[in-house]
Formats: sequence, C-alpha cells, structure tokens
Amino acid sequence: MPSLPTLSGLPGLAVLRAMGRDRSLLAGLAAMHKHLGNAFQITLPGFKPIVFVGPESNRHILVSNRDDFLWRTEGDPVTALLRHGLLVEDGESHDCLRGLMEPTLQRAQVNGHIDGFWSCTGAVTDSWADGSAVDMLVEMRKVALLILMETLFAVDFRPDLARLWRPILRSIEYISPGAWLVWPGAPRPGFQKDLAELDDYLYGIIQARRASYTKTGTLGDDLLSVLVGHSQTHPEMNDDLIRDQLLTMLIAGHDTSTALLAWALYLLGTHPDALNEASNEARRVLTDDLPTPEQLRELTFLDTILKETLRLYPPIHVGNRRAAGDVEVEGYPVPKDNRVMYSIYLTHRDPAHWDDPDTFCPARFDRAQTKSGPPAFAYLPFGGGPRNCIGATFAQVEAKAVLGKVLRDFDLELLSGRVHEHMGATLEPRPGVKMRVRRTTSIFWTEREQ
Ligand code: HEM
Repeated sequence: MPSLPTLSGLPGLAVLRAMGRDRSLLAGLAAMHKHLGNAFQITLPGFKPIVFVGPESNRHILVSNRDDFLWRTEGDPVTALLRHGLLVEDGESHDCLRGLMEPTLQRAQVNGHIDGFWSCTGAVTDSWADGSAVDMLVEMRKVALLILMETLFAVDFRPDLARLWRPILRSIEYISPGAWLVWPGAPRPGFQKDLAELDDYLYGIIQARRASYTKTGTLGDDLLSVLVGHSQTHPEMNDDLIRDQLLTMLIAGHDTSTALLAWALYLLGTHPDALNEASNEARRVLTDDLPTPEQLRELTFLDTILKETLRLYPPIHVGNRRAAGDVEVEGYPVPKDNRVMYSIYLTHRDPAHWDDPDTFCPARFDRAQTKSGPPAFAYLPFGGGPRNCIGATFAQVEAKAVLGKVLRDFDLELLSGRVHEHMGATLEPRPGVKMRVRRTTSIFWTEREQ
C-alpha cells in the first residue's frame, strides 16, 4: 500500500507562501492539494489528520464504507459542548435521534415556516435606517437566530437576542479550530459563564414547554414540542438530552445559514450585474405580502446564486471523522482512531471537475444552459449519505425567502473591500460584509402589501 504524501521540502515552502499571501489556512490546504494530490496527511505535532479530496473518497467515506468512520471524538470541544446532540452521536443512538427529528424538517413543514422566514427577516430589516451602512454578517446572524428559534422551537427570541448574542458567539468560538487541535485538553478559560447563560436559557424554554403541556394538554408540531412530547413516553429523553438537541440545532442551524447569506450578499455586491438581475427577479416574482412556495421556486436566478455561493464558500468546508478501525481509503492506509477529513471546499474547487473553479459563475447551475449537473459527490455543500444535513431543505428555502425579501426591499451597495475566508465553526467572510441599504421606491409590490 502506498504511504500517504506529507509536506516536506519545496511543497512545504509553497504552502507557507500561499498561506501568507492569502492570509488563510485554506490557501495552505489548497496548495497541499495542488502539490500532494487527492490524499495527504497533515503532520503537525498532536494533529495528524488525513485529508481526502474528490468524489470517489467522498462517496467512500459518506456512503459505501460509512461504518468505517465515526463522528464522536471524546475530548473535542464540539463533543464537550453538544454532549449527546445528533451531530456527535453514532450508531443506533444517532439513528433514533435522527428518526425523531427528521419529520420536523421535511419540505411540507419547511413550507409552513415561510411566514416565519419572512417575518423574522422583516423584524431585522425594519431596523435598517434608509441609506445606512449595515454589516450583513451581523444582520444575517440576527435573522438566522430569530428564524431558528421561532420556527423550530416556537419561541419569540426577539426579547432575548441582545442578551444572548455574546453567549451564542462564545459557544461558536468554543468549537472553532484553535490551539486545542494541536494540544488536546488545553485549558479553555473564560467560556464557562457564557455557556452557562445559554444553557439556562435552553433549560428555561424546555421547562416552559413542559409547563404549558401540563396546563393545556396540547403541544405544537415544532421540534421542541416533538422532543417534549416524546419524553412523555420515553423517560430517557430527559431535559439534558433535549438541551443537547436544541443546542445542536441552534448552532448547526444558524451559523451555517448566516455564512451562506453573508457570502451570497458579498458575491452579489462584487458582481453588480448579478445583483441587478437577482433584485429584478425578486421584485418581479415576490409581489405578495407573503410568498408561496411556488413563488420561491420561481426565483431561479437566485437559486443559481445560492448554489454557486455554496460551491465557492461551503459554510461547512470540511467533514470530520475518526477511523473506527484500521481501514483503507482509495488505496491508502488509515490507522484506527486517526482523524479523517473529507474536504468539501477542495472538492468544489477541483479543476478535475469544474471549469475555471475559482470563478463566480452562477450559470453553471442554470438548468436551461447546462443539461447535466455536477458529477455525484463533486458537489456536496450539505454532505451526503445517511448523515447528510438534516436541515438542507430548511436552509435552502430559508435562504431564498430571506434574500428574496432583502433584494426586493432594498438597493444594496457593497462598501467592504476584500474579505478573507475565516475558518471558524463555519467558513465566514471576515471582517464582515458592509453594505449600504437604500429602501426601494418601487410601488410595484408595496401597493399590494398595504
Ligand atoms: C447553508 C446551510 C447549511 C449547510 C451548508 C449545512 C451543511 C451541513 C453538512 C455539510 C453536514 C454534514 C457534515 C458531515 O458530514 O460531517 C451537515 C450536517 C448537519 N446539519 Fe447542516 N447545514 C446547513 C444548515 C443546517 C440547518 C438549517 C440545520 C438545522 C435546522 C442543520 C443541522 C444539521 C445537523 C443536525 C447535522 C448533523 C446530521 C447528522 O449527523 O445526522 N444544518 N450540515
């Protein structure tokens, strides 16, 4: 069996140069891919993940040999924070939790949330002064948080948004790549107070839902209600386990959408023709005070923008696994317990599968222009196989509703200069996406809203 390529000598310098030039660790990974190929090992002291790129290894890890790989790694901050949340469970425990929560995220349920997507967006955009400059990375996080709490937990988060802003950002920082990668078990001082404040809130909404059930004997069909309902006949679904699912959904379900929305606005801001076309489409199609699922489907140009944004800047740019035993991937040995990564970002930018991969080109997703889509597992912003993103439909409908409303109601102008790809819990445009927002004067749709 061939041994895995690692960095040494000249390629090592090329990687360092790329990282310095682009101020991005991802540029380093891209350089490693270029010099070492579709499988390579990072060999830092204490951190030796094996990285795979491309449709074949993606399929191998996610589908055909998925039982060779585990998600949970004790000692990783994400496991410490989410405890027994869906994202960090394996085997039967994972499948039971997934089976319980999946029905709440199917298309019919998601379509029922369009009013929530719309009103939560309005709650944030109503505060934008005409002609002011706003940071879309911040504003889209507000929108995504309000939406998640309202639609999945049936909770109005507006009164608590400001108070819990910092605890939520700190929880994301807690699981972001950092020194703990090379020094597992490194002390993490300063997080406890914020994480406890977020926990207090989550336990509080669980108790309030239990109390409401005791009083009325009824529960809604949102995710929190489903979990509380399940606990009536399954005592193992106690408050701790419900909190783990809520925190998982809160983080996985809003930080990703924040990144997608912010990157899409950045790309529109840097491509005025595309911005113009997307705005015109939104103003032509979204003529009612609340869009229907069919109207959102009619936003076909916006759809290509979102797909291209997810290709260039996949919010989850890499999937993390741990080898369940001594296994083999694409002919390379992977020892038991070694960290394995399948790189969504590098697969999406691989010239073997994409023409001009670094160029923003929404037309590559235009069904009228391109007959066949990308090859299977060469495009996987939501992962693949049985552990694909449980919120994929939710995220796509949400993004169309949110951006549709923003583009319909505002003329946008990008003020930020160059942004860089920040590898936090998700891939974020840093330092932010500043835009001037001017309320549109179009009477075309406003008349119908009054
Ligand atoms: C643009 C938005 C989103 C993107 C790009 C995204 C991406 C992904 C990806 C790539 C995975 C698989 C990771 C892996 O294989 O290791 C995943 C899993 C997951 N996502 Fe998303 N996601 C998004 C939105 C959401 C939303 C809105 C929710 C919740 C409502 C959500 C909840 C989850 C959960 C719980 C998992 C783990 C599923 C499991 O292990 O069974 N995500 N997501």
